[in-house]
Amino acid sequence: MPFSLHQGDALSVLATLPDHCVDSVITDPPYNSGGRTAKERTSRTATAKYTTAGAKRVLPDFTGENMDQRSYGFWLTQIMTEAHRLARPGGTALLFTDWRQLPITTDAFQAAGWLWRGVLAWHKPAARPQKGRFTQNCEFMVWGSKGAMDARPVYLPGMYTASQPSGTKRQHITQKPIEVMRELVKISPEQGTVLDFCAGSGSTGVAALLEGRDFIGVEASPEYAAIARERLKSTLGDTLTQDDFTLAT
Ligand SMILES: C[S@@+](CC[C@H](N)C(=O)[O-])C[C@H]1O[C@@H](n2cnc3c(N)ncnc32)[C@H](O)[C@@H]1O
Repeated sequence: MPFSLHQGDALSVLATLPDHCVDSVITDPPYNSGGRTAKERTSRTATAKYTTAGAKRVLPDFTGENMDQRSYGFWLTQIMTEAHRLARPGGTALLFTDWRQLPITTDAFQAAGWLWRGVLAWHKPAARPQKGRFTQNCEFMVWGSKGAMDARPVYLPGMYTASQPSGTKRQHITQKPIEVMRELVKISPEQGTVLDFCAGSGSTGVAALLEGRDFIGVEASPEYAAIARERLKSTLGDTLTQDDFTLAT
């Protein structure tokens, strides 16, 4: 089936899925980053963190963005352990993060049983230069596998340059560019299955479908799950039939 989308909490939903049902876990969890103090990090909404004051378009807020560092590490370890169970042997995982959360992310990734293989960079050309400092213009993707990997004849880059979608194309506060996601899903074998348990507006899923992979998505926010559902359905377009997807709450 090309895609299934679950609206609910990732830990509860993943517990219902069978062992070895996915080839790649590609996900962009709330980073739980930003702010100079613990109070700043844990008291602001995702909207306050990621949108500029007075932004013309108001997008829905999302949960899971107010954990302190230790809680985040614990949650990420739990959910990535569950994702590891769902991955087939030799399957792969990619986790988005920023510079501040890179250490906790690589720790949680390995504690969950994954073999850490490297860090990819997403370079954002429009990032604002900072006087007297280095520009913060990259986010990162920690990646690895469930044990030994098959050697497929694909050669994937380690750095990707693209701007975050803007204007009417922007449907999520922290939406990832589809051109980057289309390259990342190629780590999954053709016709493989990609899981994103923090699906947001469904960018990973749209990319997976466009690249001929199947997709399993989980999203906690009902508003974003609805946006993801529409994006996934319109990606399949006229070819879509009722047998092509399941939606669960
Ligand atoms: C960083 S955003 C993902 C954005 C996505 N990559 C896109 O391009 O639209 C993280 C998403 O994870 C969701 N989320 C947070 N905690 C969750 C949980 N425990 N279970 C499922 N989804 C969760 C949030 O609602 C949010 O939409």
